[in-house]
Amino acid sequence: METILRKYKIEDTQAILDIINYNILHSTALYDYTIRTYEAQLAMLEDKMKKDFPVIIAEVDGVVAGFGMYGEFRFKEAYKFTVEHSVYVSNDFQGKGIGKLLMSQLIATAKEQGIHTMIAVIDSENQSSVDFHEKYGFETVGLIKESGWKFERWLHSVFMQLILK
Ligand SMILES: CC(C)(COP(=O)(O)OP(=O)(O)OC[C@H]1O[C@@H](n2cnc3c(N)ncnc32)[C@H](O)[C@@H]1OP(=O)(O)O)[C@@H](O)C(=O)NCCC(=O)NCCS
Repeated sequence: METILRKYKIEDTQAILDIINYNILHSTALYDYTIRTYEAQLAMLEDKMKKDFPVIIAEVDGVVAGFGMYGEFRFKEAYKFTVEHSVYVSNDFQGKGIGKLLMSQLIATAKEQGIHTMIAVIDSENQSSVDFHEKYGFETVGLIKESGWKFERWLHSVFMQLILK
């Protein structure tokens, strides 16, 4: 199994969309109810490119296995050294070290870009993502209770933070 990390290309959009839409339908990792269209996903990715935010693809033997990206945490100017990131690995490739590669590259890129802090907003039911983030030094700094409603239940958002040195 050969895994490479590379920059996003437009041809990756459908693979990213498939991973996102799977998680929208089957998990609380995303708080959307409705699957995204190709056009909406492409517009989001193009917006990241335009703003020089990274979209990193993990490719295993020519197949898109996962991706990591970040963008604005909030939109007011003083937040400009803070980013919110996400890492997704498709089901077939989880537990093989791909998330680790993506997260390490995101952290390295954030440092290169002069970012001061990274934030993950994680559903409290997603313990694997909380555990995953702790591996990289992220600390839980807040819990917004009952901030989401999906699958007929209240969801709580865990905020995890890494200050970059
Ligand atoms: C969370 C996620 C990105 C992890 O990616 P992955 O490729 O499966 O993780 P890796 O195999 O690279 O593991 C990296 C580390 O995290 C730990 N980890 C990964 N999944 C874990 C789990 N379910 N429970 C506990 N620890 C876990 C691994 O033990 C590993 O630690 P190590 O380096 O000390 O061995 C992936 O499971 C995923 O995409 N989940 C669904 C989408 C999601 O929830 N994304 C996060 C949204 S904020």
